[in-house]
Amino acid sequence: MNSSATDSLLAAACQAQSLAYAPYSRFRVGAAIRTASGTIYAGCNVENAAYPVGTCAEAAAVAAMILGGERKIAEVLVVGEGEVAATPCGACRQILSEFAAAGARVHVASRAGVQATFALGELLPHCFGPANLPAHATRTTK
Ligand code: THU
Repeated sequence: MNSSATDSLLAAACQAQSLAYAPYSRFRVGAAIRTASGTIYAGCNVENAAYPVGTCAEAAAVAAMILGGERKIAEVLVVGEGEVAATPCGACRQILSEFAAAGARVHVASRAGVQATFALGELLPHCFGPANLPAHATRTTK
């Protein structure tokens, strides 16, 4: 991926991060997905006074992608706070894996730029997916 394409993902993730609702952790996260069509969808974390009910930025970006009528993730970028790269949590790795191939790139970044890049399959090896379900349990059209 060239740097201008990464720049667009970073800009979208930073914009989303600036809108995050994170009054409890004060850890704002923004995520941006580039789909196979080239469209970018973003999301931010949304916390709740009932702490476990909060949702992650990656989940919000996936929901935006689905609402946009798309289902194929080509690339993801996540921007967190501070120096330590905000790699997606385990639940978000699973959420991403539903719509991304093992080779899809996941960039983790600060607002200054990309800190590290992984393949999704490195972050979530041997994941459980639609192929693990019996055929009658999967619906490909809805
Ligand atoms: N968070 C995300 O949005 N994505 C992740 O992958 C890791 C954590 C959020 C959840 C919570 O609002 C805050 O970061 C601190 O954990």
